[in-house]
Amino acid sequence: MTPTPMRQRKGWKQLEAHYLASGTRHLREFFAEDPERGTRLSAEAVGIYLDYSKNRVSDETLRLLEELADESGLGERRNAMFAGEHINVSEDRAVLHVALRAPKGTSLVVDGVDVVGEVHEVLERMSAFAERVRSGEWTGHTGRPIRNVVNIGIGGSDLGPVMAYEALRHYTRRDLTFRFVSNVDATDFVEAVRDLEAAETLFIIASKTFTTLETLTNARSARAWLVEQLGDEAAVARHFVAVSTNEEKVSDFGIDTANMFGFWDWVGGRYSMDSAIGFSTMLAIGPEGFYEMLEGFHAMDEHFRTAPFRENLPVVLGMLTVWNREFLGCETVGVMPYDQYLKRLPAYLQQLTMESNGKHVTLEGTVVDYPTGPVFWGEPGTNGQHSFFQLIHQGTSIIPVDLIGFARSLNPLGEHHDLLMSNVFAQAQALAFGVSEAELRAQGRPEREIAHRVMEGNRPTNVLLGEELTPRLLGSLIALYEHSVFTQGTIWGVDSYDQWGVELGKVLASAISPALGSDIEPDLQYDSSTNALIRRYRAHKNKGGSDVDR
Ligand code: F6P
Repeated sequence: MTPTPMRQRKGWKQLEAHYLASGTRHLREFFAEDPERGTRLSAEAVGIYLDYSKNRVSDETLRLLEELADESGLGERRNAMFAGEHINVSEDRAVLHVALRAPKGTSLVVDGVDVVGEVHEVLERMSAFAERVRSGEWTGHTGRPIRNVVNIGIGGSDLGPVMAYEALRHYTRRDLTFRFVSNVDATDFVEAVRDLEAAETLFIIASKTFTTLETLTNARSARAWLVEQLGDEAAVARHFVAVSTNEEKVSDFGIDTANMFGFWDWVGGRYSMDSAIGFSTMLAIGPEGFYEMLEGFHAMDEHFRTAPFRENLPVVLGMLTVWNREFLGCETVGVMPYDQYLKRLPAYLQQLTMESNGKHVTLEGTVVDYPTGPVFWGEPGTNGQHSFFQLIHQGTSIIPVDLIGFARSLNPLGEHHDLLMSNVFAQAQALAFGVSEAELRAQGRPEREIAHRVMEGNRPTNVLLGEELTPRLLGSLIALYEHSVFTQGTIWGVDSYDQWGVELGKVLASAISPALGSDIEPDLQYDSSTNALIRRYRAHKNKGGSDVDR
């Protein structure tokens, strides 16, 4: 049965009427009429406290959003995901990253196979290998222990590993050096290995498909570098491991499949940091820390699976994102971690959210007549406050912001942490309530400043608070965003698990690259702009200076 298009759903129509009647109400009014709002509109689960009271919603808004989520089949689709159904319809695949963190002995079935056992087999192999590397038992070709780990991957095979490494740096072995190479720009690889000793370096080639151009190009350069440094082809066996679903391609590349850690087609790249793709994370924090992170993911999965919508953190966060996008017209969402260790979280979330919900058709292939996934972006606070927050406070676009902070710092030092966290609370306050003309006059501000200083407020924020950044907490935080994306995608009725939009560029680039490298002048049949750009590139690429056009 074809589902009712989103804007024709009863819940959506009610929300539209509700927005027309009350959508311009100010957060000042909401807080004035309910002294309990700040605690009432909050939810807490598995170590994360979510204050969503500074969103432009009333109880009625939340009730209607729940109705819309319900009518959109959120409960059924969530159950279908956990049941291993092929909810990724355009690729005809199950979506079962939740199985990656299911405890040993539990069961999740995909296409008739209970996959939890397989997951734990791989985890155990990864753990054994990681212990050998960390203890120095696994040595390089010349017998020296591994001191450097270089993860080569891109997209989900890079962003999760690098984000987790940075996030959990406090828990890492400081005598091991970790580098992450993703860009096909040679600078990335060259700079990553320039000060490394090949004899002490382990490369992890991380690629779900093992066909990704950037990763394979970097992997080939890594192999050439290693062989050149160590003077022996045979060295590859002790210095390369692979993480992939494609055993054949790994073997073709020349990596011993005994040193390969697999995963499955039901794990999307951007949902894979807790699969073998996280092998660098395991090397960095040790198997115990990795398992702890998986427990954090699982705890949030269980919360998402069982908690009523109003108490369900991912559902609430997802519904608010839809509300802000649909009714307040917010085109972007800012994510500002007030924790330096989470500096790569915004980049990670960009792929998670935008590759998932940046879609123009529904699951049935019908072009949507409403906006879908917003742009996600961000920077660690307080740095962002001293650059782009001006626009968030006084610009003409409403940008909802997630502010993420912790009660305790992993590096307590003087008053730093109180200063950091006072900014979290102050930003949420300033964005919500602003400052009025009357208040500015009462403060005795000079007349010429008044109009410029006015801040209308009424800008939505979520504050996410944890006690301390641990592997467990990180797992829960990432699962929270994963399931929030699921909630949004379900309401919009899109396939959050495919990514066809990235294909065309890849095809065109591989068609163009021979024309860039060829010694013979190519017969260019592209559009006039592409032809001119290629000609200009070719004319300049072999010249030493910048005198070509003079
Ligand atoms: O091009 C997009 C993409 O397919 C992502 O979805 C994925 O995370 C990334 O490329 C890397 O893919 P792979 O792990 O197969 O190398």
